[in-house]
Amino acid sequence: MKNVVILISGRGSNMQALVKANLPCKIAAVISNKADAAGLAFAAEHGIQTAVLSHKDFGSREAFDTAMASLIDSYQPDLVVLAGFMRILSPAFVQHYEGRLLNIHPSLLPSFKGLHTHQQAIDAGVKLHGCSVHFVTAELDHGPIVAQAAVPVLDGDDEDTLAARVLTQEHQLYPQAVRWFVEDKLQILENGTVRIRA
Ligand code: GRF
Repeated sequence: MKNVVILISGRGSNMQALVKANLPCKIAAVISNKADAAGLAFAAEHGIQTAVLSHKDFGSREAFDTAMASLIDSYQPDLVVLAGFMRILSPAFVQHYEGRLLNIHPSLLPSFKGLHTHQQAIDAGVKLHGCSVHFVTAELDHGPIVAQAAVPVLDGDDEDTLAARVLTQEHQLYPQAVRWFVEDKLQILENGTVRIRA
């Protein structure tokens, strides 16, 4: 069974959805860069090992990422899952986990990278918005797209109502994508797209 390590920074609702999905893998650890991340309590209550490594204890992004990689690797992960981990990752970190690092981003990539994606969608006037699970590459919110889910943008939506509609989809999409990974169904093609094996 594959080992999965999940990184969070806060609420951890995607992590919770992954745990509740009873996927055919071992959630070896949930790691946060913030000691007060609400998701840590949920993980501990479910018998999952938790750890905190604060970026504030390190002098540079590279030093933090090196320590974080050592901590992650102590759980021997086949897959590292970013679930609301609010850190920009250094190229060395990304390279170390190439092909085994997934992220969920709350937009239909390649639209609306970065922060405040729901407001970006409202401001752009798009009629469909959503979320994307993708392999992580050195470029922010970029990388081979594994799966996407779309929701309508409704008249009168604000950032919060739209975020809530997207989040419901995130909680379905991420477990599905992780399931495909741990079942060896994902293949990154040379052109940077992802094929899902039957
Ligand atoms: C989600 O919207 C996710 O797409 C984004 O950060 C948020 C994390 O929420 N990357 P949670 O911590 O999983 O509840």
